[in-house]
Amino acid sequence: MDFALTQEHQLIKEMAYKFGQQEVVPGLTERDRDAVADRKVLDKLGESGLLGVSLPAKYNGSDTDYVSLGIVCEELERADSSVRVIMSVHSGLHCLTLLQWGTAEQKSRWLPDLAKGNKIGAFGLTEPNAGSDAVNMKTRAVRDGDSYVLNGEKTWISLSDYADSFLVVAVTNPDATPKAAGMSAFIVHRDMEGFHSAPIKGKLGVRAGNTGSLFFENVRVPIENRLGEEGDGFKVAMSALDNGRYTVGAGAVGIVTACLDACNKYVRDRKVGGEEIGRKQLVQQMIANMAAGRDIGRLLYYQVGWMKNQGLRHTRECSMAKWQNCNFAFQAAHDAVEIHGAYGFCDEYPVERYFRNSRGAMIYEGTREIHTIMQAEYEIGYRNDKPFKHMLPTWPFGDDV
Ligand code: CAA
Repeated sequence: MDFALTQEHQLIKEMAYKFGQQEVVPGLTERDRDAVADRKVLDKLGESGLLGVSLPAKYNGSDTDYVSLGIVCEELERADSSVRVIMSVHSGLHCLTLLQWGTAEQKSRWLPDLAKGNKIGAFGLTEPNAGSDAVNMKTRAVRDGDSYVLNGEKTWISLSDYADSFLVVAVTNPDATPKAAGMSAFIVHRDMEGFHSAPIKGKLGVRAGNTGSLFFENVRVPIENRLGEEGDGFKVAMSALDNGRYTVGAGAVGIVTACLDACNKYVRDRKVGGEEIGRKQLVQQMIANMAAGRDIGRLLYYQVGWMKNQGLRHTRECSMAKWQNCNFAFQAAHDAVEIHGAYGFCDEYPVERYFRNSRGAMIYEGTREIHTIMQAEYEIGYRNDKPFKHMLPTWPFGDDV
């Protein structure tokens, strides 16, 4: 493995960092305070070309490798979690999963507009009564001629009110054993009759981002919009999470870096008894832990990006990176508040926002508890990863992608 960033990686890193600082940070404190998701950020992200990262040039993508997607997520989340969430949902959960599972016809039909940001994609798995326990979802898709008729509800869906298309998982055979074998995945478009969305208000974090619920009332979805075979839905969802969790784990490193950006400045500006607080050993301990979280976190997500490039199954490594990096981010944000004292308790400084945002990532895309259990099961031997049909294409992309 070679974990040195290439010149292309460096350029992408710089570009994503600048995007965050120039297009996301201005006005962010107010948007976060007022819980306003600014659609313009999403549009500018499309114009910048970043929504096409890690997608083949054949589909209007940037043709960069999968590590690049992680780097973009890290640098964007250094500005704000809400903009990284866009990458997670659109690029990770939606586009890469289309690339992985779509037929040639489906990829040509949908990916070019998604890569350009002309269309926005999202993901619908969670339901009011099925979060970690995804296999017990209630949304039904009943075959009727050349279509499926969908009824049900999804919730905690990022970009619920902005996305044009949703990768939705529904039950097609309620009697299947195991239950996972009775689920199928569909691409549902916002303009399909019987579909509507509604935002969720009062969130603790990611307040400058849009989250909501999706409602399906006899939504007729043509068979050409089914992703994978009937019964593949759970596998489509789990492999989508291998893509989404990667972006969350990479983004979490951006929170740690943002905490260091804020704290390294604050500890030199703030003096106690005439001495910079950066000279105090208990403060140094917190800074050193943040630096360790950033460096270990990068290695964890670079490894997953590298495995994606090689076409290797990486569910275990991806779960580890997501789980540990989110812990690093939460601890770093907690300590950043501590270092800032009372100033860390108000939005004059950004660290209280990092603290609230870092808490969310310990819940979405697999809770801390789910990842703990997964890692224990892998370690003991109760869970094993084997290659499966429809792996992500290896990078560099071939002509057959
Ligand atoms: N890729 C492909 N196939 C996979 C897979 C993967 N990563 N993981 C599992 N599968 C396959 C398995 O091979 C198995 O198929 P076979 O029977 O043919 O071998 C099938 O799927 C069932 O797998 P498991 O037996 O491993 O399933 P499980 O019931 O043990 O899984 C679980 C349990 C790991 C807890 C899983 O339910 C899980 O991850 N739950 C958490 C769900 C989650 O993360 N939700 C987040 C919602 S998304 C979100 O938050 C996005 C947003 O908008 C913010």
